[in-house]
Amino acid sequence: MKRIIVAVVCLMGFSFVGFAQGSAPRVPRKPVKNILTDAEKETRFVHNLMKKMTLTEKIGQLSQYVGGELLTGPKSGAVSDSLFVRGMIGSILNVGGVEQLRKLQQKNIQSSRLKIPVLFGFDVIHGYKTIFPTPLAESCSWDLGLMYETAKAAAIEASASGIHWTFAPMVDIARDPRWGRIVEGAGEDTYLACKIAEARVRGFQWNLGKPNAVYACAKHFVAYGAPQAGRDYAPVDLSLATLAEIYLPPFKACIDAGVKTFMSAFNSVNGVPATGNRWLLTELLRKKWKFKGFVVSDWNAVQELKAHGVAETDEDAALLAFDAGVDMNMTDGLYNRCLEKAVREGRVEMKEIDASVERILRAKYALGLFDDPYRFLNIERERHEVRSDSITRLARKAAASSMVLLKNSHALLPLSKQTKRIALIGPLANNCAEVLGSWKARGEEKDVVTVLEGLKNKLGRATEVNYVRGCDFLEPSTQEFSAAFDAAKQSDVIIAVVGEKALMSGESRSRAVLRLPGEQGALLDTLRKAGKPLVVVLMNGRPLCLEKTDQQADALLEAWFPGTQCGNAVADILFGDAMPSGKLTTSFPLTEGQIPNYYNYKRSGRPGDMPRSSTVRHIDVPNRNLYPFGYGLSYTAFSYGEMRCPKQFDDDGMLTVSVDVTNTGRYDGEEIVQLYVADKVASMVRPVKELKGFQKVFIPKGQTKRVDFTLNVHDLGFWDNNMRYIVEPGAFEIMVGSNSEDVQKKEAIWVQAASNTRHAQPKVKRPKQR
Ligand code: NOJ
Repeated sequence: MKRIIVAVVCLMGFSFVGFAQGSAPRVPRKPVKNILTDAEKETRFVHNLMKKMTLTEKIGQLSQYVGGELLTGPKSGAVSDSLFVRGMIGSILNVGGVEQLRKLQQKNIQSSRLKIPVLFGFDVIHGYKTIFPTPLAESCSWDLGLMYETAKAAAIEASASGIHWTFAPMVDIARDPRWGRIVEGAGEDTYLACKIAEARVRGFQWNLGKPNAVYACAKHFVAYGAPQAGRDYAPVDLSLATLAEIYLPPFKACIDAGVKTFMSAFNSVNGVPATGNRWLLTELLRKKWKFKGFVVSDWNAVQELKAHGVAETDEDAALLAFDAGVDMNMTDGLYNRCLEKAVREGRVEMKEIDASVERILRAKYALGLFDDPYRFLNIERERHEVRSDSITRLARKAAASSMVLLKNSHALLPLSKQTKRIALIGPLANNCAEVLGSWKARGEEKDVVTVLEGLKNKLGRATEVNYVRGCDFLEPSTQEFSAAFDAAKQSDVIIAVVGEKALMSGESRSRAVLRLPGEQGALLDTLRKAGKPLVVVLMNGRPLCLEKTDQQADALLEAWFPGTQCGNAVADILFGDAMPSGKLTTSFPLTEGQIPNYYNYKRSGRPGDMPRSSTVRHIDVPNRNLYPFGYGLSYTAFSYGEMRCPKQFDDDGMLTVSVDVTNTGRYDGEEIVQLYVADKVASMVRPVKELKGFQKVFIPKGQTKRVDFTLNVHDLGFWDNNMRYIVEPGAFEIMVGSNSEDVQKKEAIWVQAASNTRHAQPKVKRPKQR
C-alpha cells in the first residue's frame, strides 16, 4: 500500500526550451566594440519600428483577415484597400500561390505608411499541393521520422508557394470518434500524441528563418477534443487532473519542440471560453510555460465570446480576449474596431498592446521579411519545389505506412499479381475528390491516383479490372447493385472501397451514427452473395462501427483518407509491395453507445469484467472494442518471448525491460512493440494502463530482435486536481505486447531511495517531459 506522497513536483511548470529566434535577447547587454548580436539587432530594429507606429498601426498588426476582396470580391472579414492604406492588416490567411500573394504583399507595401510586411498563414494540415494521409491516418504509422518528413515536405511546398505559417499541428486529444475533428489529430493517447506533436512541429519549422520552412501553430488550446456528446464547438467540462494529464501535455510538447505560435480554441473549458481565458493563455502558457511566441484566436472566436454569453458587446469581447492573452485576432476585425478606443479610455494598457505587437513583429523579422517582404515569393521555387518526385514518393510511402490491416482471413492478402479478374466496386474506388480527406489545402483532384488507376499501374493489362461504383455515399439507391453483383460474380476476387465522404469528418462534421453511410453496407451484402473472396478497403476520417463489415469481409484494410498517392499506395499494400505495418491510435467501438471507449479508462470499484451483473458495463453490449488501441495485423506474424523485467526500479528510479520478438511468418516486416504501465495502488484512481513506450522495429523473416525499454519512475506519476504532479512509490504493473489488449504482465516495485534511511528528505525529481 502506497501511503506517502513523495514527490509533488511542479505546477505544470515543465522545463522550457527557448525561443530560438525572435525572443527577447538573453545575451549579455554589453556590446563588444559596437558589434551587435543578431538578437540585439532584432530588438533594436523592432523597438525602433514601434516608436514610429501609431496606435492604429499597432493594433493593425494584431489583426488577421481573409484574402477575399482584392482577389475575388467583397467578403466579410476580408482585406480591403482601406485597411491596407491605414496599415491595419498584420496577417492574411488562406490565400495561396505566389502570384496571388505577391499582389497582396505589393498592395500592402505600396499603400501602407510603414510598409510592414504581412504574414501569410494557411491551413496546411496534411500537405499543401501534395496531400499526405490525414493526421489521424499518419499517426497510425507510429513512425515519428516519417511524420517529421511529411510535415517538412508540406512546409517546403507551402513556403515555395509564399506561405509563412501553417495552422498545424492540431494536437487535441480525441477520445470520442463522434467528434469530426478526430481526423486532424493523433488519436486518443497523450504519450504518443506528444511525440507526434514534437515531430510535426520540428518538421514544419525544420529550417526556420530560411524561406523553405514555416511557423507551426499548436492548436486548439485547449481541450477542444472533448466537447459534450462529440459535437464540435460544444462546452468542455473536465477535472483539472484530466486536463493536466490528458489534454495539456501535447501543447507543452509543442513548446519544447520550439513552436512559435498557438491558437486558442473555440470551446469553453469548465465554464470559461478558451479565447477569453486568462488563466490558460497568460498564467499557464506565458508565465508557467514561458511561451515566447504569439497567440492567434480561432476564426471569429473573439466575436463568439458574445454567443458564449460572457461578453455583451463587441468591445467587451475584444477586451476579454486581449486581456486573456490573445495577441492576434482572426477574421472578425474586433481588435481593429474596438481596441484603440479602449486604450484611449485607459481600459487597456499601452504596454500590453506593445507586448503583443512586439511578438508579431519579431516573428516577421525572424523570417527575414523586413529585409525582403517578397522573400517567400519565388515563382521558380513554386514551379520546381511543389509536387517534386521525392515528395510524391514520400506521399506514397506515408499512405501505405498509415494503413492498418484489421482482418485477413486465410491469408487472403497479399493478392497475387497474377490474379486474372478483379471486381473493383464502391463509391471510393475511382474517386479522386474524397480520398484527399478534409483540409486539402491546395491539393488538386487532377493529381490524385485513384484506386482504379493504382491497380492498373500495378497490374498492367494482364489483369482485367472491372470497375462498378455500386452506390453513392448517401443516396438511398440500389440501382447499381446488379451491375456490381455481375462484376463480382465474374471475378476471382472482389475489392470493395467504401467509407465516408471527405467532409463527413473534419470541422463541424460530428456524427452520431458511425455506420458505413448510405447503402454501402447493403452493397457489401450483395457482393458477399457472389461467393468470391471479398477484400474491403475502408476510407474514412474516424473510427466507424464496423462489426457487420468485419463479418462481411474476408480481409479488411483501414486505408483512411490516403491523399494524392491513394491508388498507388492501396495497390502497394494489397499486392504486397508494401507490408501493412500500421496500428490503430484510436479504438474502434462495437457500437456508438459505448463511446467514449478509449483504452486508458480509469479503474472503478466494480470493474466490468467481474462475473456479476452490477458492474461497470452495458447490459446489451460487451465492454470490449471491435479493434483496440494499438491493434493492427501484418502479412507476416510476430511472436513475443517472455518479457525480462527486474523486480525493482533501481535507486535512480530507472527500470529496463526487454523482450525478444521473432518474425515467425513468411515475409520481412515491421512490428510496433508497445509498453504499457499501470500504477497498482495510488492515492488517486489511475487508468487500467497507459502507453509509456513503443518501438517500430523491422525484423526479417525468421529472425529475432531484442527490444529494450527504459522507464523512469518519474514519468509514471500523475496530476492531482490542484495540477500538482505526484510520484508515489509502490508496485507498478509493466506490460509489453502487440496492442493495448494483447500484453504480458510483470510487476516492478519502486522503493524510493530517499525513503531508505540514507536520506532525510525524499528525493524529488522533475518529471521528464512526456
Ligand atoms: C477554424 C479552425 O477551427 C482552425 O483549425 C483553422 O485553422 C481556422 N479556422 C483557419 O482556417
